[in-house]
Amino acid sequence: MTMRRFEGKVVLVTGAGRGIGRAVAERFAREGAALALVSNDESNLTETVKELEAVAADILAVTADVSDNGQVRDAVEQIVRRFGRVDILVNNAGIAWEESVLDITPENWRRIIDVNLNGMFWVAQEIAKVMVRQREGVILNMASTNGLVGEAKYAHYNASKGGVVLLTKTMAIELGASGIRVNAVCPGYIQTPMSEAIDDTEFVDQYVRDKIPLGRTGKPNDVAGVFAFLASEDAAFVTGECLVVDGGQLAF
Ligand SMILES: NC(=O)c1ccc[n+]([C@@H]2O[C@H](COP(=O)([O-])OP(=O)(O)OC[C@H]3O[C@@H](n4cnc5c(N)ncnc54)[C@H](O)[C@@H]3O)[C@@H](O)[C@H]2O)c1
Repeated sequence: MTMRRFEGKVVLVTGAGRGIGRAVAERFAREGAALALVSNDESNLTETVKELEAVAADILAVTADVSDNGQVRDAVEQIVRRFGRVDILVNNAGIAWEESVLDITPENWRRIIDVNLNGMFWVAQEIAKVMVRQREGVILNMASTNGLVGEAKYAHYNASKGGVVLLTKTMAIELGASGIRVNAVCPGYIQTPMSEAIDDTEFVDQYVRDKIPLGRTGKPNDVAGVFAFLASEDAAFVTGECLVVDGGQLAF
């Protein structure tokens, strides 16, 4: 039987158009939540809405670029006007590509930091204001194992995710007294359109053999279930935590 832990709750998922964000939206919808979905890509967002409208209690989709704090403010205003509150934020939108330290251009450095770190902050800050008024809420930020250890050719990405880890801990310290929990999830290798655009099958097979004790890559659902746990009452005393979901990769 599917649990229904989020009936009556409003869950905002950014980057909900595909990949992990879409799986997270589906998980919360199946457990009874109303969804506010944000992505910068209108067509992938429309597909997510089509897939979930029969399942979700209610859905509002807003097209916005999280790196633009004006667009974030407008999106949050629309969401609060529609639902009156936000109980859970899954701050997931992000981008990645490979580039060596010596080749990263100023534009590419700025874009990754702008979306993955600044964008995450704009959304978390706007939603924190709403949750402080409510005196309750859960903020979940998407970090990565790359926010905890380095990986060659991802200096900009790793720096952005390392920033998300410490943003999460600092927000947890400041917002605990307002009844708000703030945690991060640090996935390892998850098979999504993002990772498929970067790596070919041969690379992935070798990576799994060399690095992942569980012998497979993660699926978006492996991560969605962890977000649902952290948002649930079972995690009522968990805050400032970064939960690694990597098939054992960081156990080495
Ligand atoms: N795939 C992995 O192996 C992996 C591992 C660790 C962490 N992550 C993180 O998980 C998150 C989701 O990754 P994914 O693999 O599902 O990626 P994906 O590219 O498949 O999906 C990303 C989603 O975010 C949206 N998005 C991108 N830039 C945006 C912006 N500026 N504003 C609003 N929406 C934006 C995209 O339109 C898309 O819907 C990212 O933060 C990523 O860094 C992924």
